Amino acid sequence: MINPITGGPDGAHVGSSATAAAHANGIVVQEHEAMADVGNLKAEEDRIRRAYARRRDDGRYAISDVANLLRIQDIERRLLRLLDQHGALPLRDKHILEIGCGTGYWLREFMKWGADPAAVGGVDLLADRVAAARRLCASGSWLLRSNAACLPFPDAEFDLVAQFTVFTSILDGQLKRRVAQEMVRVLKPRGLVLWYDFQVANPRNPDVQGVGRREIADLFPACSIWLQRVTLAPPIARLAAPLSWRLCTLLDTIPVLRTHYLGLIQKP
Ligand SMILES: C[S@@+](CC[C@H](N)C(=O)[O-])C[C@H]1O[C@@H](n2cnc3c(N)ncnc32)[C@H](O)[C@@H]1O
Repeated sequence: MINPITGGPDGAHVGSSATAAAHANGIVVQEHEAMADVGNLKAEEDRIRRAYARRRDDGRYAISDVANLLRIQDIERRLLRLLDQHGALPLRDKHILEIGCGTGYWLREFMKWGADPAAVGGVDLLADRVAAARRLCASGSWLLRSNAACLPFPDAEFDLVAQFTVFTSILDGQLKRRVAQEMVRVLKPRGLVLWYDFQVANPRNPDVQGVGRREIADLFPACSIWLQRVTLAPPIARLAAPLSWRLCTLLDTIPVLRTHYLGLIQKP
């Protein structure tokens, strides 16, 4: 169980790693240092940190950006339908973890859709993102700075473990496999991984790599997988959305123009 008082895992199996609370401006950010035992994976963790430090916020992921709003509302509509079809609604009694939660946008969505804040939490590699998520998310929800390759939770803890555009930030195949294994480990039997990520290469960003259907199947062996292609290619959406929402809807009917997979992956 998650401890709603400390905002951290209660009695979690953390192996040789250490979990401690860091206080900054009254915000409690749980720290979980666990990569020391993973050898060369630490190098990939450092690379990811450097890649995010280089990123500049150009406003394209602002909720007021019409192309981004189109993307997010489309995910919301499709995702709720998918969760409903797989019997995962209502979320009221579900324990939910998001890995790579960033500033907590999707955590807040889960709560908006009915999840209990005390049963919802996220981990992210970057302390500033975790601190921002802590400021923005409802009290009761919990946040942890941790590499998703070493989740400080017991086996079979969660009903739903989500990842939104995290795997494409990880270039090292071994780290991707470890993260996938950890997601499955902390899921209850028949629990669901929620997957949203892009599947094409981004030639302008060498820090990311698309993850295709075959790779997803390799990452989650023995699981049942449902994937659908979604999200009008962002460069096209950024041109079309300010002109006409309807034009985007029309273009979105062409499967080859959709760059992401949205789906559910079920643990046996
Ligand atoms: C593109 S951002 C997406 C953030 C959030 N999921 C969203 O959709 O708003 C990817 C996030 O994954 C985090 N991340 C990447 N690799 C990670 C890892 N191995 N463990 C935990 N977080 C990771 C990054 O720090 C970053 O915040």
